[in-house]
Amino acid sequence: MKAFEFSDLKTPIIQAPMAGGVNTPELVSTVANYGGVGSFGFAYTTPENIEKSLFSTKKLTSGHINANFFVFKDIDLPNMKIQQTCLEALTVLPFDEVVEFTIPAAPFFPLLDEQLGPVWESRPSIVTFHLGIPAFSIIEKAKSLGIKVGITATNETEALEIVRSGADFIVAQGIEAGGHRGVFDIGKYDYQLKLDDLLVQLKRTISLPVVAAGGLMNGADIRRVMALGASAAQMGTAFLCCAEAGTSAIHRKYLLNSHDRGTKITNGFSGRPARGIDNTFIKVMENKPTLPFPAQNSLTANLRKTSEVTSNGEFVSHWAGQNFKKIRSLSCLQVLQELKTELESG
Ligand SMILES: Cc1cc2nc3c(=O)[nH]c(=O)nc-3n(C[C@H](O)[C@H](O)[C@H](O)COP(=O)(O)O)c2cc1C
Repeated sequence: MKAFEFSDLKTPIIQAPMAGGVNTPELVSTVANYGGVGSFGFAYTTPENIEKSLFSTKKLTSGHINANFFVFKDIDLPNMKIQQTCLEALTVLPFDEVVEFTIPAAPFFPLLDEQLGPVWESRPSIVTFHLGIPAFSIIEKAKSLGIKVGITATNETEALEIVRSGADFIVAQGIEAGGHRGVFDIGKYDYQLKLDDLLVQLKRTISLPVVAAGGLMNGADIRRVMALGASAAQMGTAFLCCAEAGTSAIHRKYLLNSHDRGTKITNGFSGRPARGIDNTFIKVMENKPTLPFPAQNSLTANLRKTSEVTSNGEFVSHWAGQNFKKIRSLSCLQVLQELKTELESG
């Protein structure tokens, strides 16, 4: 297949990578077949499952697929006393079911080099990285295979680092976005820029293509970011209630019915800032200690699972962007058709 170019897109939409089983082959292939980019969020996925997802999607589409990964950093657990306070923050939660909390042990995350094995075999059009810049050898390898590389930036300094890394494009993530903030070093800064302000800044100084992400829910939103110079719109929340998405029943229920609530950014679930629909867990965990990312994600795994299987949506993450109330519960094809009509009607 010829290398991906933004100008080839029939529709300037990238269905966002969303780790945790949301991105199914059916969802990804529908967007790719429509002339956009369908993405998989493979943050925690094993190489075997990455291979299965990519190969089964390739049977459904010859369009553009994006495989997305987290760039995890090595971590040390804090001393026993701090570990104990992190455990206590969870054991005192007002949750009725019995949940076992265990301090996780290394390895805390999958090895990127191993996860990328099936990507080099299957050769999707694009690989993107979130939370940092991968090793230079990875960017070189992708480029040698004709795979385009995109990396998330939340400010200009990160964007300039991405330019120096040799990547092909930048995903500009505004504060409105659902899921994890792509900030490289959460211990140092987070300027929390709104998407439009970030786009204006990046378009002034960066010549690489920029994809816009954060709070984009309809055709007018896509038109607005394209007018600010974006090469495409990356939309996550807008696809969460599609019939083809792997979104859990309780997550869908909150997206469709919790319109009396807003979203909040929390470290509580994973140890890293991420935006989701406000619930009891987020409220109670405000200013509470957490293990470093992603050890906190492992620590809260049993709680999130039990909350989900008991249909109690108050102790599980419902990642969503600020504009989730505009979500549509339709098939993916219908969402794409409506977006296209709105986009062309302006
Ligand atoms: C449920 C969910 C999971 C996400 N997982 C990832 C991920 O694995 N990798 C990634 O780069 N971005 C992830 N994101 C962020 C998206 O790439 C994108 O920045 C965000 O969806 C844009 O905001 P919106 O949800 O308002 O459209 C996730 C977002 C959501 C809502």
